[in-house]
Amino acid sequence: MSDNYADILKTVDVFKALPAEDLQKVCGLVKSKDYGPGSVICRQGDVGDALYIIAEGRIKVSTTDPAGREKVLAYLGPGQSAGEMALLTGQPRSATLTAVADSKLLVVRKDEFDRFLATNIVVMREMMKVISERQAATITRMAREEAAPAAVLEGKVIAVFSPKGGAGKSTLAVNLGAALAVRYRTEGTILLDLAVPFGHSSLMLNLKPKASLAGNPPEALRGPDAQETIGGALVVHRCNLNLLVGATKPEEGDMVSGETVRAAIDTLKRQFNYIVIDTASNFGEVSLAAVEAADAVVLVFSPEITALRDVRECQRILLEVVQLPKERLHYVLNNIFAYKALAKDEFERALGQPLTAEIPYGGDMPTRAALAGEPFILTQAGSATAKAIDALGKQLVEELTGAPAEVPAAPKKKGLFGR
Ligand code: CMP
Repeated sequence: MSDNYADILKTVDVFKALPAEDLQKVCGLVKSKDYGPGSVICRQGDVGDALYIIAEGRIKVSTTDPAGREKVLAYLGPGQSAGEMALLTGQPRSATLTAVADSKLLVVRKDEFDRFLATNIVVMREMMKVISERQAATITRMAREEAAPAAVLEGKVIAVFSPKGGAGKSTLAVNLGAALAVRYRTEGTILLDLAVPFGHSSLMLNLKPKASLAGNPPEALRGPDAQETIGGALVVHRCNLNLLVGATKPEEGDMVSGETVRAAIDTLKRQFNYIVIDTASNFGEVSLAAVEAADAVVLVFSPEITALRDVRECQRILLEVVQLPKERLHYVLNNIFAYKALAKDEFERALGQPLTAEIPYGGDMPTRAALAGEPFILTQAGSATAKAIDALGKQLVEELTGAPAEVPAAPKKKGLFGR
């Protein structure tokens, strides 16, 4: 019996209240199964014979209407379950489940699960809750589609940019992405690493993408095959943050063009609520394509005298040359030193406007987290540095969506991040 299953199971909504002993019983019932992007796990209308728990990857939940049009109901990630409706109601599968990234599912057979449920009222109650929430979500979504059939998801793009390396740009992008992934769990959040040729986000998340955007013609990223092209390159952190990298090796960096980036962002906006981009520290075509597509550009800099001039230059280029609307540009001072060589108000005077956020110095904690491959926003959520990034994420989402986007997910229990 793998202990890992217990680690995964205790992150799943329907099992999180279970005592260790019962969790072990569920462990004994599950079998792990891998699905590649595009593989169908179960089809709408099938008889429900199993429950699925997503250990890794990303699953699309969709229905097909009588005219044969696909309607996406949701995307699910690590720690979420699917297939409980048919199992409990005895009805046929209400939707088709398809893997859209390399995914590992824990599968529990119906007969075994029925036996377990018969003596476990806690899990039964949690499952009924999930079912009713999902049914309500489906009804709302269908009603929205009927009112505005063309309405498709239009995810928000946040580009994190820095005039030079070493200011904590990738740290901010990774942790901002993780903060949004945990706080807003609908279609999800993706981190797009365009810091080519030397992106570090996969190391900082301890993920190993096998494929990237590099070398894909733009049409493969826009057309009917886009889902599979991108799905083959997606990797998912267990906090539900998805990652897509521009290049897996430095020498592939040149194989990413501005057009590749525009095509990828257009497709990702239809599949994710939030797309956080770690851009390269230059104004090459890849960075420009990212910045131009962004709903918010976060300009991050450290408190140094050289940064003062560089940030003003970035302000001039982004506002006057790129013609970015002023309100899209956010200035974030990241205190990467124990001392303040320059204070916030000196930047504010130079820029002629207030900064959006200041991130407190985190000691060696951010470096240690990067080495461990875990975003500190999850492992050190109580630190002032993590709190400032979470607050920045919340503020950006509220500005971009015009309202608190969604009721935050229940706080994560210890098992997931605080082990
Ligand atoms: P079941 O009907 O057995 O098979 C398809 C599954 O899709 C269903 O159980 C749910 O687990 C899942 N599902 C259906 N509607 C939604 C929704 N709106 N959001 C998330 N998951 C859903």
